[in-house]
Amino acid sequence: MECLRVRQETTARFHALPLTPTDVPPNIAPLLQHSTPTVDFARLYAPIDADMIAVDAVVRARLHSDVVLVRQVAEYIISAGGKRMRPALVLLSANACGYSGTCHHDLAAVVEFIHTATLLHDDVVDESSLRRGRDTANAMFGNPASVLVGDFLYSRAFQIMVGVGSMRVMQVLADATNIIAEGEVLQLMNCRNADIEVNEYLRVIRYKTAKLFEAAGRLGAILGSASPDIEDAMAAYGTHIGTAFQLIDDVLDYSGHEAETGKHLGDDLAEGKPTLPLIHVIQHGSPQQAALVRSAIENASGDSFGEVLAAVRSSGALDVARRHGVEEAETAKAALAPLPDSMFKETLLQLADFAVQRSF
Ligand code: IPE
Ligand code: IPE
Ligand code: MG
Ligand code: MG
Repeated sequence: MECLRVRQETTARFHALPLTPTDVPPNIAPLLQHSTPTVDFARLYAPIDADMIAVDAVVRARLHSDVVLVRQVAEYIISAGGKRMRPALVLLSANACGYSGTCHHDLAAVVEFIHTATLLHDDVVDESSLRRGRDTANAMFGNPASVLVGDFLYSRAFQIMVGVGSMRVMQVLADATNIIAEGEVLQLMNCRNADIEVNEYLRVIRYKTAKLFEAAGRLGAILGSASPDIEDAMAAYGTHIGTAFQLIDDVLDYSGHEAETGKHLGDDLAEGKPTLPLIHVIQHGSPQQAALVRSAIENASGDSFGEVLAAVRSSGALDVARRHGVEEAETAKAALAPLPDSMFKETLLQLADFAVQRSF
């Protein structure tokens, strides 16, 4: 079966990619010791293995279009894989809340489609040329095709969602996509802004990234007819793991390895994107380091990437941003307290660790 073949390739890609706990700086290590020292990503989804296969089948089936370019672009990015963290969160949340139907497969596919649409759009906006270890869709098919197929995936997600037939679900997803769009625009407004405050940066990442994780957690709870307290706990877990996830993504843009992240390092700097590592150097680095980073942001220049990298590393900015990510992940885990114990809850705890220990 085609869907199985693609899934196996995807899993194999991540099987081949080890986490690098040695990359964790000594001052972060004690914080990480609260949790499992390393997360085995390949085994992480074991409790939802059958569900993930079912989601993949929905994704493959619902990618269909009579328009050949739609099929080409959508299949190009989807078949490249991805970590599938957001659909996993829908499934884990639904299972942890006792859900026993099949609508969680549809909603997991919905969040993956929305995520994929944002990636297609994001790579155009960020002028990125590498994603999931391949040329980006915009590099392969051009910006117009990427934007338009992103719109196709968004609207297909809404078609699937309507099929689920729940007004609450539609409300959560309509609100989430609206906030994500605002987040991307907020980020655009802050490009080349070297004076952005940490709180405003955190608002951007909550909107553009954490909101979809929040929706994923809440949707599972809604399907499981969870109490309002549990539903809010799952949403809070999503907000905090999503924030942790983006903080680490922003760290990996200065400390990762392209062979692992599947993305080019330095894309953020080339766009003049003021992420936490850079904000920290401007606010707490030496006057020379601050001036260098300020100028690189304001000129959106990747030319000084090597010098900026040295400043970011020597000023301890990466440690600060990682520590912030770890704190968010710990808050995510604490939010799960009201949830009854289960193997799904255990996996949610491990997923929060993975969000910050990851190297891809
Ligand atoms: C990339 O998300 C976009 C961000 C929010 C940083 P992922 O890193 O989850 O992308 P895939 O799906 O695994 O490729
Ligand atoms: C994630 O931000 C944006 C989305 C929510 C799509 P990034 O721009 O940092 O994501 P990557 O690094 O391109 O995956
Ligand atoms: Mg990007
Ligand atoms: Mg990034």
